[in-house]
Amino acid sequence: MRGAAAGLLGLLLASGSTTTLAWAQTNVLQERDQRMQPVWGPRGMVAAGEPLAAAAGARMLRAGGNAVDAAVATTFALTVTLPHATGLGGGGFLLLWLPGTSPARARSQQAECRQAFSRELRQAGGTALGIDFRETAPAAARSDLFLAPSGAVDRHRATRSLQSAAVPGTVAGLLLAQRCYGRLPLAQVMAPAITLARQGLPVSRNFSQSLQAAGPLLQADPTSRALFFRAGRPLQPGEQLVQPELAATLERIARGGNAGFYRGPVAVAVLRLMRSDDGLISAADLQAYRARPVMPLRISFRGHPVLGMPPPAGGLTLLLLLRLLEPFNLAATGLNSAASLHTMAEAMNLAYLQRNALFGDPGDTPFPAQRFLDDAVISALRSGINTERHRPAAELLAAAPVFGEGSDTTHVSVADGRGGLVAATSSINFAYGNGITVPGAGFLLNNHMDDFSARPGSANGFGLVQGRANAIRAGRRPLSSMAPTLVFRPDGAPWIATGSPGGSRITTTVLQVLLNRLVHGLNLAGAVAEPRIHSQLLPDRIEWEQGISPDSLHALEQRGHGLQRAAAMGAAQSVEVIPRQEGGGSYGMNDPRRAWALAQPE
Ligand code: DON
Repeated sequence: MRGAAAGLLGLLLASGSTTTLAWAQTNVLQERDQRMQPVWGPRGMVAAGEPLAAAAGARMLRAGGNAVDAAVATTFALTVTLPHATGLGGGGFLLLWLPGTSPARARSQQAECRQAFSRELRQAGGTALGIDFRETAPAAARSDLFLAPSGAVDRHRATRSLQSAAVPGTVAGLLLAQRCYGRLPLAQVMAPAITLARQGLPVSRNFSQSLQAAGPLLQADPTSRALFFRAGRPLQPGEQLVQPELAATLERIARGGNAGFYRGPVAVAVLRLMRSDDGLISAADLQAYRARPVMPLRISFRGHPVLGMPPPAGGLTLLLLLRLLEPFNLAATGLNSAASLHTMAEAMNLAYLQRNALFGDPGDTPFPAQRFLDDAVISALRSGINTERHRPAAELLAAAPVFGEGSDTTHVSVADGRGGLVAATSSINFAYGNGITVPGAGFLLNNHMDDFSARPGSANGFGLVQGRANAIRAGRRPLSSMAPTLVFRPDGAPWIATGSPGGSRITTTVLQVLLNRLVHGLNLAGAVAEPRIHSQLLPDRIEWEQGISPDSLHALEQRGHGLQRAAAMGAAQSVEVIPRQEGGGSYGMNDPRRAWALAQPE
């Protein structure tokens, strides 16, 4: 049956507008006999990187909250349960879709909500909005901030010093989402995080191992050492992590909103720390921080509307990749075949060529993001793909870009059972950020200043070689690969929310989840679990995961690719809405590369 379905698909693909419905049907046929199944639930579903945090979101759904309440509760809880991955000292991006008009609108007359409503994208019975809560460079940051007198980049200062911390955005972003689009009171949404911080949680084996790995970094900071170590050794599996100072900070936020974090005792604690050494963040920086409501980018991929986050997030790179790959018949060349992997890697290199040279935080100046996705621009770029032969990075870099103007993180996906979807990725960058915990406030600082290009041509912590478009400048946000993504059915009904951690591999992880689901007809479980590849132009090689066959690797080598075996890449958290005529409910899938953490309202 699979072969017949694939053949039918090839035929229908060539035949124009009827394709998309047939495509969806073919997927349904293929879903029945798959070797992996996602978790099913009758109402909503929360997929997150840690189970206690996922349960916090499910509790909001049970209490009548919507996808936004659940995503905000889960992300606040993750700041307590996954402090190596995200935290109040970090930032991120959130993409929401709510059916109809949010009931919270009536209660919210604040200017920030009016601004958010004005950026909404309306489609088929609902509204979509992106919230950019990426950190910003402090006003005192200059483009040469991390250059040593020799002109080389000082990697320690760029990643491990107080200067590596940008002004945090997570609190402002989550509060904006919740106030303008949530249904429940903020105190209720934050309660699980506060309880987890105050009462403590058992340390998991993964957590303990990550503390061990980050030992030298965390032990160098007295506050981090006191929080995560006992008698010189990291907290062991089963021991309790209690975070009273973080609980107090969360309580201040629950009571005072933004002012509970960006002003008052928490801000004073941050400023005292900054003054203790060479930190740049000032009171004015904290007070000036605003989460930005942004209109999502939109493309159609084989008839499915796909929404992504504009720069500085990774959504533009992801949508560019989908547009580049759309006409290639990857289903016919086959999942994980050398021919498919080669085409994908070549597209990845072209997309990263654009990204690394041209993308950056547009700030208040208009950025022609949607024009990068125009037919003419995409066709010109696509014509650079040779399906038989790898084009070395040096060759691509020698040609001018086609359009010339311009390990650790965590993701939450929620389907609320009433048609609402949220995808939210947040991060403090490396595991445990810069390793420095704010004394008296209980959270780690990010080291996201390293996502800027410290010097054009020098690689950052993810090996990304970026240009002037992403230079450090006061008040700017560093370019990110984070790509929370929403996919709709051809009739506009909400379908998939997904996203992933993984540094520069985030965009290619999300790409492969979507190609596996939309092109290869895998169900959500298989789409997430399949082995992945990654290529980012420089270094000029394909990274591959366990599971790609030796003969595919050999054939890739023959096409001219360098190869590098990689550790597991990404950790996609995904949910999917099942249409009523197919039984209703939702699917959830955690990435088997990391711990299982799904929760449902029942
Ligand atoms: O924003 C970015 O692209 C990175 N700072 C994300 C870091 C990350 O995903 C680390 N994790 N696994």
